[in-house]
Amino acid sequence: MSTPNNSLPQHVAIIMDGNGRWAKKQGFLTRVRGHESGVEALRRTATAAAEIGIRYLTVYAFSSENWARPKLEVDALMSILVNALHKELSTLQENRIKLHAIGRLQDLPAVCQRQLNEVIEATATNNRMTLTLALSYGSREELVDAFQHVAREAASGRLRPEDLDAKTVERFLYTTDMPDPDLVIRTSGEQRISNFLLWQISYAELFFTPVLWPDFDRPHLEEALAAYAGRERRKGLTSEQVAPNVA
Ligand code: FPP
Repeated sequence: MSTPNNSLPQHVAIIMDGNGRWAKKQGFLTRVRGHESGVEALRRTATAAAEIGIRYLTVYAFSSENWARPKLEVDALMSILVNALHKELSTLQENRIKLHAIGRLQDLPAVCQRQLNEVIEATATNNRMTLTLALSYGSREELVDAFQHVAREAASGRLRPEDLDAKTVERFLYTTDMPDPDLVIRTSGEQRISNFLLWQISYAELFFTPVLWPDFDRPHLEEALAAYAGRERRKGLTSEQVAPNVA
């Protein structure tokens, strides 16, 4: 018998997908309109998550692979990012949300890096929820960066190969100091992980919804949270070990 965990996830990660299809469905001539509406969906979702009591929300905003999109779309996404950071600072402050970013941030245009650092600094003492933007992010790239770090430590004699364990690897991931996601949501009906937090989601619950990201709103988040609360999280144990008092 499976026992629901009845709890709120501490960390929710979202693969925000379907902006392009949404724009097409609305009859817009450019996919960029979908990304613009995607920012609105992100504002609604982050505000709702903070109100509900989620402590960490991590969103896949721009993947390593997204650099290969047409230059016009990449440039538009970068400019949407700069504008959104500027415009949404007040939303973050009002909701006491701390901004954080992971990925190869050094590859972002200088203006994005500056704006990002400004908002990260301005929100550093907020403590209701941490919103992490995954930007120029790829999980394999993150692991490669971590392995390089580990190799350097070993080569310099600071780390003995036999002392390497999962905790040490985690110290070198971009997400060090963050708990692993408990729940991953992907919108737009696709059922893939697409190089997102591969190490960190080892035990996460997955929730897929057909809703396109620009249409995503509080009730969809609540639906995902209700599904999560109904799941039994065994992490390799038996049902009896997880809920020993349930007949
Ligand atoms: C996937 O939709 C979405 C993205 C590649 C970008 C996500 C960006 C936002 C939600 C806006 C916020 C952006 C930043 C940079 C803060 P898609 O374009 O792959 O849609 P499709 O699968 O329908 O083509």
